[in-house]
Amino acid sequence: MSRLIVISNRVSTPKPRSSGGAQGGLAVALAAALRESRGLWFGWSGETAEEFTGQINMQRVDGVTTATVDLEEQDVDEYYNGYANRTLWPLFHYRIDLAEYDRSFGSGYERVNQRFAETVAPLIEPDDLVWVHDYHLVPLGQQLRRRGLKNRIGFFLHIPWPPQRLMVSLPFHERLVRSMLDYDLIGLQTEEWLESFHHYVTRELGGTVEPDGTIEIDGRRVKTGAFPIGIDPEEFRAALATDEARQAYDTLKRSAEHRKMIIGVDRLDYSKGLAERFHGYRRFLEEHPDWSGRVSFLQIAPPSRGEVHTYAHIREDLDQLSGRINGAFAHVDWVPIRYVNQGYPRAGLAGFYRASDIGLVTPLRDGMNLVAKEYVAAQDPDDPGVLILSRFAGAAHQLGEALLVNPYSKDELSDAIHAALSMERTERIRRWEKLIEAVNRDDVGSWLRGFVEVLRGERTHAPAEP
Ligand code: G6P
Repeated sequence: MSRLIVISNRVSTPKPRSSGGAQGGLAVALAAALRESRGLWFGWSGETAEEFTGQINMQRVDGVTTATVDLEEQDVDEYYNGYANRTLWPLFHYRIDLAEYDRSFGSGYERVNQRFAETVAPLIEPDDLVWVHDYHLVPLGQQLRRRGLKNRIGFFLHIPWPPQRLMVSLPFHERLVRSMLDYDLIGLQTEEWLESFHHYVTRELGGTVEPDGTIEIDGRRVKTGAFPIGIDPEEFRAALATDEARQAYDTLKRSAEHRKMIIGVDRLDYSKGLAERFHGYRRFLEEHPDWSGRVSFLQIAPPSRGEVHTYAHIREDLDQLSGRINGAFAHVDWVPIRYVNQGYPRAGLAGFYRASDIGLVTPLRDGMNLVAKEYVAAQDPDDPGVLILSRFAGAAHQLGEALLVNPYSKDELSDAIHAALSMERTERIRRWEKLIEAVNRDDVGSWLRGFVEVLRGERTHAPAEP
């Protein structure tokens, strides 16, 4: 079996199993595939050095080898904070109003992709399978080809692909997309993003798309497909069975004092629709005073990308908004919103999900959203909670039995919260059974196998969406 080489901006160093390490499902699944193929995970260490030396820090933990490099501060500014998070992230989440472009971002992005390529290329053997991840590394395949790599190289985008009419607002967009033609396979999360990608390729590059998703441009052929990422439901249920999860469950239940609990868990990011969610909850409190004192909303939002100014603003906005809602609606013995800027280990979150009657997952745009799937996996089959999900999350393609909402509409959010709180148990069970079936079917293992099989050429195209 050929080795798998995973390349991503961040590398999740495996935690020894004996430490009960708290890791995301994606990291766990990739680590398992790397262990099995005796592969390697390469990326940025998260650290800066005065000068880029290309010195690799190799580690082997629990059968998984990771290789990381430090970047210069200027690299981090221009590549990570700049082009990746100030240009591509907002644009790819349909926020061209927030997208900034500076020539230095573009050149820093190219430079780091070159540096990644020159550092990782010597570690790659001729029959290794190379899998590049996410928007930080779009041109990496091209950089690897320039260094003579003939391997099969695949690319998977974890975030949405924007409509062609937005994509063209990116300076030098054609150059970025053309750099992707050096991949053998390009994977997106959903048919919707895939359609936008195909539309761009045909309209802007004059390419053609074959029925199996292969694109052809100037005689070059690249396979494309939709591969919806999932969670590892077994692993998540195991997290739920730990003492840590039980304690988290007890803490939340006790503090709820028989009130209904609503939970949201998101990185503090404008794409997550947090302000809109708070407005929707406020509308619910206004429209349903009978629920005053009988429901509590816990929003967990760990800070993210703090060096990017749009992220600092959102933090200020949400502090104000939650304060105003509590000021207007709280009683001496009840606050409507608990807003927490802190992250929790997965097992703790699993316990919180289980203790909550509603999972509120309302991003304005999201590649997939695994919180929605984890919320479903954490529920009690005999008395499950209700998932309220944005129709603009990739996960809505699989989780159609959630209460799907337009996250921009306060009224829809308010109505959905009311409907969820009033939903009969039989209806909750009926919906949850459909949801858990989808979570189990499109799990992280089938995502991983699906992509790798097509990349290896063992299967011709991505499985169709159900
Ligand atoms: C999204 C991206 C990931 C990224 C994560 C956290 O899920 O698709 O590539 O790692 O956000 O963001 P950060 O900037 O902290 O890595």
